[in-house]
Amino acid sequence: MKKRGFSGVRPTGRLHIGNYLGAGKNYVAMQDEYDCVYCIVDLHALTTLADTDKLQSNIYEAFLDLLAAGIDPQKAVIFVQSHVPEINELFTLLSMATPLSWLLRVPTFKEKARMHPQNVNYGLVGYPVLMAADIVLYKGEVVPVGEDQLPHLELAREIVRRFNEHFGETFREPQAKLTNFPMVVGLDGKDKMSKSLGNHIELAATAEETTKRVMSAVTDPTRKLRSDPGHPKACNVFKLREHFDPECITQLEEDCRMARIGCVDCKRALAEAINCDLAPLRARRISLAANPEYVRQVMLDGAMKAQVIARQTLDEVKSKMGLI
Ligand code: TRP
Repeated sequence: MKKRGFSGVRPTGRLHIGNYLGAGKNYVAMQDEYDCVYCIVDLHALTTLADTDKLQSNIYEAFLDLLAAGIDPQKAVIFVQSHVPEINELFTLLSMATPLSWLLRVPTFKEKARMHPQNVNYGLVGYPVLMAADIVLYKGEVVPVGEDQLPHLELAREIVRRFNEHFGETFREPQAKLTNFPMVVGLDGKDKMSKSLGNHIELAATAEETTKRVMSAVTDPTRKLRSDPGHPKACNVFKLREHFDPECITQLEEDCRMARIGCVDCKRALAEAINCDLAPLRARRISLAANPEYVRQVMLDGAMKAQVIARQTLDEVKSKMGLI
């Protein structure tokens, strides 16, 4: 039997190349080897209460991006988290097996609590429990995520261990699966690529938008003049070219160090490579967007399939915990 792959994507709207290179590529790559379940985690989006008026369109846009990226609903289950309400029940049950002290030391929680002290709600503290519940509800064993999610996954493993100790062997400890690009820096060359920082390129951007954004990217900050030697290893554009332009990377590294190529030309080449790589995805997205009934149907079918798995797990958990 194939192992179960599981992952969740927060619906922050259209996905960007950071989401894609950091985790999404693995969703697609894993479909044959694993029995995959992927979900748009709309309940997680509520933990910060941001953009709730746009939540429905954000879910839809993210769903379209995943399908366009190549998730095949014949092979993988793809659905929206809240469409399978069993998650809420398992969330409550798992919370009983999770010491509060574990949650208070999670780095993302501490960071969010520091940034938004007026909005430290109970749901936010429980974010990692909800994430662990996602994984175990669908019996996920291999979890493709970006590097930033590793502390959450470690916590999920601890919750699983504790649950198993208390109530008997029920869940396997999930393992993270990273891409070879688990942390993509944004166009500002400083922070992780993220929509909220505006340093991103949407997967579904047009070729023109992509070029415009890439041309605005920060390169090696120590290279002030065209004749200054570059430091490719410290340059974000070089890093992206490693991914999108692997065949010419050795030559490029030398050309950059020797100042034989300037940053403007290098960025132009990157934009072209990205546009070429993403052209099939973008074409698929346009045809999917023209067929919203199909997309809605995939969403409904996905939730139905996911619910079958969820109900089974929940029955098992309730009986282990003495509820039935
Ligand atoms: N926390 C993840 C993120 O921010 C999203 C997520 C929710 C997730 N549930 C999950 C990822 C389960 C993997 C598995 O990206």
